[in-house]
Amino acid sequence: MVTPAAPPDLAVRVGTVSLKNPVLSASGTFGYGLEFAPFYDISRLGAVIVKGLSLLPSPGNAPQRIVETAAGMLNAIGLQNIGVERFVAEVAPRLEEAGAVFVANIYGRTVDEYEAVARRLSDLPALAAIELNASCPNVKEGGILFGSSPHGLSGLTRRVRAATAKPLWVKLSPNVADIGSMARSAEDAGADAVSLINTIVGMAVDHKTRRPRLANVTGGLSGPAIKPVALRMVWEACRAVKIPVIGIGGIQTAEDALEFLLVGAAAVQVGTANFRNPNACVEIIDGIRDFLVREKISRLEEYRGGLLS
Ligand SMILES: Cc1cc2nc3c(=O)[nH]c(=O)nc-3n(C[C@H](O)[C@H](O)[C@H](O)COP(=O)(O)O)c2cc1C
Repeated sequence: MVTPAAPPDLAVRVGTVSLKNPVLSASGTFGYGLEFAPFYDISRLGAVIVKGLSLLPSPGNAPQRIVETAAGMLNAIGLQNIGVERFVAEVAPRLEEAGAVFVANIYGRTVDEYEAVARRLSDLPALAAIELNASCPNVKEGGILFGSSPHGLSGLTRRVRAATAKPLWVKLSPNVADIGSMARSAEDAGADAVSLINTIVGMAVDHKTRRPRLANVTGGLSGPAIKPVALRMVWEACRAVKIPVIGIGGIQTAEDALEFLLVGAAAVQVGTANFRNPNACVEIIDGIRDFLVREKISRLEEYRGGLLS
């Protein structure tokens, strides 16, 4: 009789944070996590990353805020969110109750505001990490202003680093000339990991009405269209820094996720795919497991970073 082989080990580490698998929900595409509980047990995810939180609630930009494109979407939500206080009081206890590992994505209009949000979240013992959104292209202040120069990014990272003892992941903008030097700035300023990419600035117009399709005129492109750009940037970042790199951009299938892991990503985030298929994240986890079984690989760590030249 053949004894069935033990299931492969999908566990990964992002610095000091241990995750049961490498699949995380990308901020802004998964609500506050609880919205997906009717579809599956959200504790199955490596981690849930919640919509970007600011100090005060924000209604975001005026509509129209989303446009579908040939291979993805453009959004200019403008960081609509319930504010950090409501998150701490109402959402975090429910995520904890659901057994989910959760990470808070944060955003501020000023460095002081970023610091205040990080400080407030530090009181949550169950929070696994803080992800600093230094890269939102859809707000006039903050975000991209800090995230588009190595100097701005390192100043912001240093201040938030000093404000919290939580693991700090810095999310990078792809709208820069040299992603490697941005990743290095975050690392030098004390980031525990970098995550990339955020959306690529794009635009859509209506040739009949002669108007922009988004009220904000420009928006962030996400989805399968950006995957090759994201993969290249993740590969470059992995070669530029020693801290873990989390890969994001156009991941829809287990094969997509495996490609990012192969070039060295410690974990991946799934964003726009959640809109098309609410089960995308768990299907990707199952697909990674099936691949490892077929290839007779007992630990994901044996495969990760193994790109041949
Ligand atoms: C509707 C929408 C809202 C988003 N909101 C945030 C946000 O609040 N904070 C953030 O860091 N990234 C945000 N993002 C960027 C995603 O987390 C992700 O980096 C990007 O969409 C690329 O991944 P994807 O191609 O898998 O969607 C948002 C993306 C979309 C589509």
